[in-house]
Amino acid sequence: MTLLAFETSCDETSVAVIRDGAVLANVVSSQISLHAEYGGVVPELAAREHLRNLTPVTRAALREAGVTAADVDAVAATRGPGLPTALVMGLKAAQAFAFATGKPFLGVHHHAAHLFSPWMAGPPLRADWGAFQPNVSLIVSGGHTMLVHVESELRHRVLGATLDDAAGECFDKTGKLLGLPYPAGPVIDRLAAEGNPAAHDFPRPLRNDPNHDFSFSGLKTSVRYFVRDHPEVAADGAPLRDLCASVQAAIVDVLVTKTLRAARQMGVRCVTASGGVTCNRALRAQLAAACQKQHLTLRLAVPALCTDNAAMVGLLAERQLTLGVAPTDLDAEIAPNWSLGDAA
Ligand code: KG4
Ligand code: ZN
Repeated sequence: MTLLAFETSCDETSVAVIRDGAVLANVVSSQISLHAEYGGVVPELAAREHLRNLTPVTRAALREAGVTAADVDAVAATRGPGLPTALVMGLKAAQAFAFATGKPFLGVHHHAAHLFSPWMAGPPLRADWGAFQPNVSLIVSGGHTMLVHVESELRHRVLGATLDDAAGECFDKTGKLLGLPYPAGPVIDRLAAEGNPAAHDFPRPLRNDPNHDFSFSGLKTSVRYFVRDHPEVAADGAPLRDLCASVQAAIVDVLVTKTLRAARQMGVRCVTASGGVTCNRALRAQLAAACQKQHLTLRLAVPALCTDNAAMVGLLAERQLTLGVAPTDLDAEIAPNWSLGDAA
């Protein structure tokens, strides 16, 4: 089966071609620089940019995969959750393609797709289904922070999620306070690598709570007050590096502690992680160390697939169609608030 997949839930326009578990093409056009001057994603701008990008990105994906529109057997797109004005672009493009070619269409859940990205290995990239095992998965990005119990490839249950800000948002807002460019996560990661994580003791919200929820807005506020009261700690050089390392240490500590506790409680032998913040080197290293200590298998999405991409959407859709999930109606609308618990 050759499947064409679209992803436009936020600020990446991505189109992928999947064939029998292999990723033939995964073209991602990021809008980060477009939104940088606003310090966050502007929905209306994102929508217009998706509209502009969809045709060239689709052409590039088909060319890279060496297939034509006539070779496509099925079409998929992210249906939700995400920014409504952004989601609608990819969904309608996919439905139009399916209508014109008479092929089946599948609307997929964005987070269910994220759960698949740690199971892609390569190069050349392909799904490593043989290695699949039940796991606890951390999805952590600028918009989401959640823990999911993945019982089988298509059966999952949300254990907990952030009650306020996502971890990526905490990185980005801390960066804004410190005058760093957007998105600040990668910048803080770089500065923190040369700083002392024990220089300042920031709160670890809900770290020791028995539930699986997160909260990062209090941490962000305590950084704001700390910088206001000690402006010298944000000065360029060693003070800034120490501050970044200390904030990062608090975020990573909470994420790692709660992920490992959830894995223990669910009795799984495997932990996975995906989403933009999974690019963070301290998070990757500390998850690896903690899993090794507890003899758990760790599967992290490769950095290029941590952020939004259509390959994960296509692989999920292919798996769903193979396992008998019914195609989605061509008139189906976007589902911006779709909860993972309701997803197929
Ligand atoms: O998955 P993603 O591209 O988009 C969504 O938010 O859906 O994630 C982007 C987020 C941003 O908040 C960015 O600052 C963060 O991921 N991020 C990082 C790193 N790379 C990206 N955060 C910490 N360390 C990184 N290396
Ligand atoms: Zn995402």
